[in-house]
Order: sequence, then structure tokens, then C-alpha cells
Amino acid sequence: MLNIVLFGPPGSGKGTQSGKIIKKYGLVHLSTGDILRAEIANKTRLGMEAKKLMDEGELVPDEVVIGMIDKKIEENPDAPGFIFDGFPRTKEQAYALKKLLAGRDMKIHLMISLEVDRQELIQRLLKRGKDQGRSDDNLETIENRISVYEKQTAPVMDFYAREGVFRAVDGMGSIDEIFERIVKVIEEVRT
Ligand code: AP5
Repeated sequence: MLNIVLFGPPGSGKGTQSGKIIKKYGLVHLSTGDILRAEIANKTRLGMEAKKLMDEGELVPDEVVIGMIDKKIEENPDAPGFIFDGFPRTKEQAYALKKLLAGRDMKIHLMISLEVDRQELIQRLLKRGKDQGRSDDNLETIENRISVYEKQTAPVMDFYAREGVFRAVDGMGSIDEIFERIVKVIEEVRT
């Protein structure tokens, strides 16, 4: 089994690289952002409550996302492993993930943190906002998402460093170059 946390600020390429990792390694992709956007598209009560926070670039409450992840793990008993994308985003979420994995005799094997310059993050997200119209990809919200990341999410790196599974990867360059760096790190853990 291989369980990976793919970590990094908004626009660092977590979703893009997750897609390539699941293709190569057959893992199940769990993105809390994607799950929340599906709730919004389905106009559920949870989705409506989350939308306001997401449009402001604020985090959705811990218990909401922890419950979502727990349910998804439960729904995939035969998964060869999971890739957690955009989760955990607070230390509380990291502790909760550890606990809910331990209860199933599972653990995180690797946490990959994608490192990307602030200016590059903003450029990528503004471009996506223009091309795809995602409602949180406007300058004001992007800047708040980055600041929420720095204050509330970056400390999660210490958690995984203490667990001995933290690896930083240069997230600048082409999508394929970055993927090659990620594969190198994954292969080191698998052997
Ligand atoms: P989420 O959906 O997780 O968004 P995010 O973290 O802001 O990340 P993004 O999807 O914007 O970026 P990414 O790192 O996945 O990069 P991507 O590959 O898409 O969360 C959204 C919101 O939901 C949060 O603000 C919060 O409100 C809520 N939420 C989610 N999870 C939560 C949690 N656990 N707890 C509480 N709240 C939660 O790439 C970005 C763009 O760049 C794309 O257009 C892509 O094509 C492009 N790109 C990628 N790589 C490259 C490259 N190498 N060169 C050029 N362009 C590139």
C-alpha cells in the first residue's frame, strides 16, 4: 500500500500532478477541493455552506472535511493506496487523518510538498480564472488563499517532518519535469 499527501500552496500543481500519479501508480485520488466543488454543483446544503467560505478563500471547518475523507476511505476498501490532495490543511486535520488511518492499520508513507514562487502561483491561478472561470481564482481571493495557506496550512509540514515522511520537491518548471522529480521521490520510498 502507498499513501501519499500531496501538499503545497494554491496553484502549486497538486491537482495536476495527482492526475499523473494516479495514472502511473493506480492510487485513489481524494481531493477535498474537488469533493466540495461537487457538493456545490449538486446544490447540497453542505455545498451551499462551503461556497461562501471558498469564494472568500477561507477554510471550510475541520470536522466537515475530516468527515468527507473518512467516508471516502470507507467507500474504497480495496484501494492500493490513496493520494490526499488539499488535505490535511491544518494540524488538526493532520492529527485526525493519522487517527483515522491508524484505526484501519494504515499510515501516510510520504508527504510531498511542492515549492513554487508566490508570483508564479498568482500567474497560474489568474490564467485559470480567465480560462475556466473558477470563482476563487480572482486576485483578491488568490491573495487570501495564499495567506491562509501560510498561516494555517504551512505548519502541517512540521507535523510530517516529525513523522519522518516529509519531502520537498521543486514545483517550478514544466508539468513533466516536476512529475519526473515526484516519481524519483516516490521510487525512493517504494524500494
Ligand atoms: P482546493 O481545490 O484544494 O484549491 P487550492 O489548494 O487553492 O489548490 P488549487 O486547485 O487552486 O491548486 P493546485 O495546487 O491543485 O494546482 P493545480 O494543479 O490545480 O481548495 C479550494 C478551497 O476549498 C479552499 O480555499 C478551501 O476553502 C476549501 N478546502 C479544500 N480543502 C480543504 C480542507 N482540507 N480544509 C478546509 N477547506 C478546504 O494547478 C493550478 C493551475 O496551474 C492550473 O490551471 C494548472 O493547469 C496550472 N499548472 C499546474 N502546473 C503547472 C506548471 N508546472 N506550469 C504552468 N502551469 C501549471
